[in-house]
Amino acid sequence: MAREFSTVGVVGLGTMGAGIVEVFARNGIDVVAVEISEPALERGRATLTASTDRAVAKGKLAAADRDALHERVHFAVGLPALHSVDLVIEAVPEHLDLKQRIFAELDRVCRPEAILATNTSSLSVTEISVATTRPNQVIGIHFFNPAPVMKLVEVVRTVVTSPEVVADVEALCARLGKVDVTINDRAGFIANALLFGYLNHAVAMAESHYAAREDIDAAMKLGCGLPMGPLALMDLIGLDTAYEILDTMYRRGGRDRRHAPVPLLKQMVTAGLLGRKSGRGFYTYERPGSPVVVPDAATPLATESAVAGGARAIYAEVGTGSARSELASPAVVTKVGVVGSGMMATGIIEVFATAGYEVVSVTRGAEKSAAVCEAVKTSLNKGVVRARLTEADREAALGRISWSATLDHLADVDLVVEAVVEELSVKKALFASLDEICKPDVVLATTTSSLPVIDVAMATNRPADVVGLHFFNPAPVMPLVEIVRTIRTSPEATATARAVCAALGKTGVVCGDRSGFIVNALLFPYLNDAVKMLEASYSTADDIDHAMKLGCGYPMGPFELLDVVGLDVALAIQRELYLELREPGFAPAPLLEHLVTAGYLGRKTRRGFRDHSHR
Ligand SMILES: NC(=O)c1ccc[n+]([C@@H]2O[C@H](COP(=O)([O-])OP(=O)(O)OC[C@H]3O[C@@H](n4cnc5c(N)ncnc54)[C@H](O)[C@@H]3O)[C@@H](O)[C@H]2O)c1
Repeated sequence: MAREFSTVGVVGLGTMGAGIVEVFARNGIDVVAVEISEPALERGRATLTASTDRAVAKGKLAAADRDALHERVHFAVGLPALHSVDLVIEAVPEHLDLKQRIFAELDRVCRPEAILATNTSSLSVTEISVATTRPNQVIGIHFFNPAPVMKLVEVVRTVVTSPEVVADVEALCARLGKVDVTINDRAGFIANALLFGYLNHAVAMAESHYAAREDIDAAMKLGCGLPMGPLALMDLIGLDTAYEILDTMYRRGGRDRRHAPVPLLKQMVTAGLLGRKSGRGFYTYERPGSPVVVPDAATPLATESAVAGGARAIYAEVGTGSARSELASPAVVTKVGVVGSGMMATGIIEVFATAGYEVVSVTRGAEKSAAVCEAVKTSLNKGVVRARLTEADREAALGRISWSATLDHLADVDLVVEAVVEELSVKKALFASLDEICKPDVVLATTTSSLPVIDVAMATNRPADVVGLHFFNPAPVMPLVEIVRTIRTSPEATATARAVCAALGKTGVVCGDRSGFIVNALLFPYLNDAVKMLEASYSTADDIDHAMKLGCGYPMGPFELLDVVGLDVALAIQRELYLELREPGFAPAPLLEHLVTAGYLGRKTRRGFRDHSHR
């Protein structure tokens, strides 16, 4: 028989604690909610009220249920109020000494049979437990932010946690409607161990002005389908909490430099920019605690400049602190050349033609042109069937495309998009020819996903006009384009690329010319880390996938995604990142290499991390 929990205590009513109180009270459990002072208690009460009022306004909670929920919560200052609860969850700031002091006192005030739980994200539950005389009744119950919404709970057992306590807590999680994964006590558990290297890397990108905050966040949302971008997520977590988690993970997790908090974080915390809770972090919010972002000095002023041929592009480049404005006029683009005959070229031709551009497709021969033409027609037909466009739209789009097997037909285009084979020598030769053929001042774009754009640019005598335009596959569907500017790219070329992306109905994000641009540089190391975690037998592929989907709202778990992307593709990208950055943490996971060597490449070979032969 599982233990009955009729009253629980929650210590600390900040970002997490207030949400945890709501989770229990919503599920019919009485809560004693404890803070350090009256003002802190009031803040916690206000957070709970605001959250439940929002739930009522959204129709997710009946007003009567909200009132009943509030009646179940008893607020108090000081731990002695917890004398008769069955379980306590501590959610105070992420400092070991503070948590140890609190656990020592909880041990004194709580009933001997009470379970003492910590919501720590990164500290050792074992070290916290030894501050009590009952380490076998100490456990980690790690909720995700926002606690009332996220389904996952990581249940963390130490080497001395009693199996009955683990079973009781697992049953409690089920009663709360949560899905639990039970794991051992390791820094960052599953989700944070995979998440925080990525978050820290995104902060480093913002700090170095590699890309603007909006662009980093848009890239991960639109390129990977994540519910929020990494910098917005940092603001939600709280930069002070995130700093402490990274610092602890760095020290406990083998001093992986990717977890050493980026200096900007410490500066922001010191300056009181803690994220949503203080009203300002990477973004500025309506007021402290509000989720509503308001414009600030770093907000792009006029992405509307991106209307083709339109007004001056004026945008402030991020950051935090040193905003730099850039003024440039986009060139007028009406006729576009697309070179190549593969999947990307085909999709890009369709995207431009349906957006109203005149398109010159150049392939290596009439046969190839015929095949591309057929593929574009098939895709446009699908669009008609799915009512995305009319038959007249389709005919108009096809009418805008001319088919050629010679680059000479690109002499009068305003923009060239190259999407030929991913080989530097081929691309360089092509760009040298384009340099000779194209009129001056046109933008020459490469769709490379892995080669340095500057190498391609330097094959021409006009490197200022060369940019990367990294479309995602399938180009007609994916809303994101990474605009890569090299150290030689002119602001005008970048402005033109932005304007064109906007006219295509895509979100163009501007970034520097480094391996993986934004999306792959942030995504693949995380996938590689998941493989390393599996290889270390810390958890199973199923639990890791669950943790990322239910704890962080990812549309797919890392192993599901790896099987879709292809393990060979993931390995190649990871190798490049490792070669460019020489970061030991980026070294490809040996298990990934072995699976590729064994021919287990994912869905395409019917076997990757999972067996797909029966599906
Ligand atoms: N923020 C997140 O996204 C997140 C997610 C999961 C877990 N966690 C973990 O939850 C814990 C709390 O983090 P947070 O982000 O909610 O922090 P927070 O700073 O938002 O809130 C901490 C609260 O604890 C209170 N407090 C401080 N000392 C206290 C004491 N002696 N007695 C009672 N209350 C005290 C503070 O007044 C504050 O309200 C940390 O261990 C953190 O790692 C955080």
